[in-house]
Amino acid sequence: MASSVFLVIYLSVGALFLQQIAQVIYNVFFSELRKIPGPWYAGITGIPKQYNAIIQRKQSRWSHEMHKTYGPYVRIAPDEVLIDDIVAFREVHRMGTPYLKTKIYQYLNPTPPGTPPYGLFQETDPIKHSNVRRMVARGFSLGYLRENWEATVHDRVKAAMKGMKEEAASNGGEVDVYKWWPLMAGDVISTLMFGECPYAIERGLDDELIAAYKLNDAGNGFAYSFPYIYHILKWLPIPSLKRAWAGNPVLIRQGQQAVKNSKGMSQKANIFAKVLAEAEKDDPTLSDFEIALNAGVLVFAGTDTTATSLTYLVWAVLSNSGLRRELEDEVAQLQIPYTDEKVESLPILNAVVKETLRLYGAAPAPLPRYVPREGALLGGYYFPAGTTVATQAWTLHRNPAVFENPDVFDHTRWLGDLASREDVKASWAPYGAGSRICIGMHLADMELRLATTAFFREFKGAELAASTTRESMEVDNTFLIEPHGGACKIILPTE
Ligand code: HEM
Repeated sequence: MASSVFLVIYLSVGALFLQQIAQVIYNVFFSELRKIPGPWYAGITGIPKQYNAIIQRKQSRWSHEMHKTYGPYVRIAPDEVLIDDIVAFREVHRMGTPYLKTKIYQYLNPTPPGTPPYGLFQETDPIKHSNVRRMVARGFSLGYLRENWEATVHDRVKAAMKGMKEEAASNGGEVDVYKWWPLMAGDVISTLMFGECPYAIERGLDDELIAAYKLNDAGNGFAYSFPYIYHILKWLPIPSLKRAWAGNPVLIRQGQQAVKNSKGMSQKANIFAKVLAEAEKDDPTLSDFEIALNAGVLVFAGTDTTATSLTYLVWAVLSNSGLRRELEDEVAQLQIPYTDEKVESLPILNAVVKETLRLYGAAPAPLPRYVPREGALLGGYYFPAGTTVATQAWTLHRNPAVFENPDVFDHTRWLGDLASREDVKASWAPYGAGSRICIGMHLADMELRLATTAFFREFKGAELAASTTRESMEVDNTFLIEPHGGACKIILPTE
C-alpha cells in the first residue's frame, strides 16, 4: 500500500516536472512572443522583473532601462511584454477597451487581498466596473468638487501650514514635508469619503487610519507582487505577518461611517450622499458594503499619491532658486481669498504642476492589461490572448522625441503651446487613460494647486535641509513612487 502511494507521488512529481520542461521549451522556441526582443531569460522566467520591482524597488527605472536596451517592445517574462509605443498605448488604454486589468489588481483589495467583491480600482470585470464608476464619477467632476469641497481643501491646507510652522519653531526650522502632505491628503479624501474629518494633521502619525494606509501600502503591495507567497503566508500564525494585512479591516470599518453619513443618518454629508441621491433615478445603486469598500479604496488611492507628487514638487522647486523666486512672486500676487479657479490661471504654478506630474507622477509604473480573446496585432507583433501587456508613464514621459532633454525638470517647456501638441497629448498620462483613468485626478490637481500656492506664499525663502539630496530623493517604486531616503526635509524661514 505504502509503496503504491509513493509511486503515485513520484509519478505526479515527475509529470509536473515534465510539464514544466515542456512549457519552457514551448515558451522559448515556439511561442509567438519569442519574436519580441528581450533578455535571454524572458522565455523562461519573470523573476528578474519581480526582483527589480520588489526587492530593489526600481520597477520603473528597470523597465525604462529594458526599453533603452531592447526597444519599444520588450518581452520580460514568458507571457509579459513591456510597450513604449504611443499608438499601442492609446489602443490598450482607450475608452471601452477590450484590454482588461489583469487579476493581479485584485490583490490590492482591502477585503482582504484577492477576495471579492472588489473596489473600483481593483475590479477587473468591465461591466461591474463601469456600473460603479458611472455612479462614483458624479462626485469627482471639477465643477462639483469646487462647489462642494474646495473649502475642505483650503481648510486642510491651512491646517498643514500651521502644523509645519509649529513643528519648525520647535525643531530649528526643519520640517519633513513627506510627513505632512500625507496627513493633509488623508484628511481631505477622508472628509469627502466619510463625511467626517479624521484630523490626522492635528493628531499626527499615530492616527489609526493613517497607520492603516501605511500598512496597506506595504502589505497589499506585497500580495500584489507575490500572490502565491501571500496565499501561504496569510495562514501562518505569526503576529508580524498578521499585522501586515491588519490595515484592511480598519479601512472597511471606517467605510461604515461613509454608509451612515451618505444615507442622511447624520448632518455630515459625503460624496456618496450625492452618488446615492442621483442613483435613485437610475438602477442599479450601490449596496452598503460597496459604499464602505469603495470609501476605503478611495481613501487609500487618494492619500500617498497626491502627497508624494506634492513632496517632489516642493523638492524640485527648492532645488532651483530662480524658479523658487519666480513661483513665490507669482503666488504672492494673489488677493485673499483666492479660489482654485483663480490659481488655475497662474502660468508658472501650473507649469510646475505639469512638470512635476511628468517626472514625478505618483504612479508611473507599468499598468498590466490582458490581450483580449481574439489576440492582437501591436507594433507589427502578434500577441496571443491572455498575454500581459504593460505601458508605463515613466517611459512615455521621458521620450526625447516628445520632451526635449526629458530627464531635466524644466517647467518652461509648458509655458508655450507644448500641451496642445498632438504627440504630447497622446503620451501625457500621469493619471492613466481611457476607461480606467484616475477618478481622483481633478481632486489631486486641486490639492496640488492649493497646497503649492499656500506653501510658497507662507514659507517664502524656504530651503532644502542638508540631508535632502539628489540621492535621498532618488525615486524608488513598485506601483507608487517614494523618495529613497524616506523623507524630504526642508528648512522653513524663521520670522
Ligand atoms: C497625483 C495624484 C495621483 C496620481 C498620479 C494618480 C494616478 C493614477 C493612475 C495612473 C491610475 C490608473 C491605474 C491603472 O490604470 O492601472 C489611477 C487610478 C485611480 N485613482 Fe488615482 N492618482 C492620483 C490621485 C488620486 C486620488 C486623489 C484619488 C481619490 C479620489 C485616486 C483614486 C483613483 C482610483 C479609484 C483609480 C481607479 C479608477 C478606475 O479604475 O476606474 N487617485 N490613478
